[in-house]
Amino acid sequence: MTYETLIVERSGHVGTITINRPKALNALNSMVLKELARAIHELTDVDAVRALILTGAGDRAFVAGADIAEMAPMGPWQAREFSELGHVAFALLEDLPCATIAAINGFALGGGLELALSCDLLYASEKAKLGQPEVNLAVTPGFGGSQRLVRLVGKTRAKELIFTGDFVDAQKAKEIGLVLEVMKPEELMPHCQKVAEKIASKGPLAIAKSKRLVERGYDMPLRAANRQEAETFALLFDTHDRREGMAAFLEKRPPVYTGK
Ligand code: HXC
Repeated sequence: MTYETLIVERSGHVGTITINRPKALNALNSMVLKELARAIHELTDVDAVRALILTGAGDRAFVAGADIAEMAPMGPWQAREFSELGHVAFALLEDLPCATIAAINGFALGGGLELALSCDLLYASEKAKLGQPEVNLAVTPGFGGSQRLVRLVGKTRAKELIFTGDFVDAQKAKEIGLVLEVMKPEELMPHCQKVAEKIASKGPLAIAKSKRLVERGYDMPLRAANRQEAETFALLFDTHDRREGMAAFLEKRPPVYTGK
C-alpha cells in the first residue's frame, strides 16, 4: 500500500509508522489522519504485527500539532469534522490489539502530543519538547488531550500544561510521568525497536488481552474490572499459545507463539 504522508514499514513482527511531512514538522492534516486510520486498519489485517512504533520524519519533530494552515479557514462544522477525524484515528490506535510505542524524536505539540498520548508506551529523545499550546491559538485541545493528558499526569499538571501552553523538555516530561524514559537521539529508535521486539516475542493474545484489561478496566469499578480479569485469564487457557507457553517452560525451551 502506498501513502503520501506516511512511511509504513514492517520488520518481522514489528511495524513502524513514520509521519512524513518534515517540512511542516510533521503537522497533522486531514490526509495524514485518514492515511493513519487506513494504515492502522491494514496493519491489523496483517495479524503478524505484534508491536507498532510511531515516530516523525526528520530530526526536529515527532509531530508539531494539527496543521494550522489547514485549520485557519475552517468554520465550526469543518472544525468538528477535523476533530472527529483525529478522534477516530486515535481511538483505532488505542484499540489496536498490539502494543503501540511513541518514539518522540522532537516536538510533540498539540495534536502531536495527543497522538503520543494515544500510544501505550512513550519514550523521548533528549531533544523532545512536549506541550499543549492550543491556547496560544485561542482554542482547546481537540484530539483528546484534555482527557488523555489528565489520565496520565493528573488534573493539575494537565491544567498547567493546557492553560499556559508551555513546552516541557524531555527530562521534565519524565519527571511528571508523561514519558517513560529519555535517551540520546541516536538511541531512541534502537531502544523502541528493542522494546517492541521484546513485546512481540510474548504471547500475542496475552498482550492484546492485557491491553484491553488495562484500557477498559481503568474506567470500571474495581470489583467488576477484576471479574473481567479473571474471565480473560480463564479464556486464555483454551488457546494454543497458553499450552505452548507452559509446555515450553516445563520442557526448558523457548516458546513458539502463533497468536492462536
Ligand atoms: C502547520 C507548521 C506547524 C503546525 C510548524 N509548522 N508547526 N505548519 N501546522 N502545527 C511549519 C512552519 O509553519 C514552518 O513552515 C515549518 O513548519 C518550520 O517551523 P518554524 O516555525 O519555522 O520552526 P521553529 O521556528 O523552529 O519553531 C518550531 C515550533 C513552531 C516551535 C514547533 O513551528 C510552532 O510553534 N509550531 C506550532 C505548534 C502548535 O501550536 N501546535 C498546536 C497546533 S493546534 P514554513 O513553510 O514557514 O517553513 C493543535 C490542535 C489539535 O494541534 C486538535 C485539532 C482538532
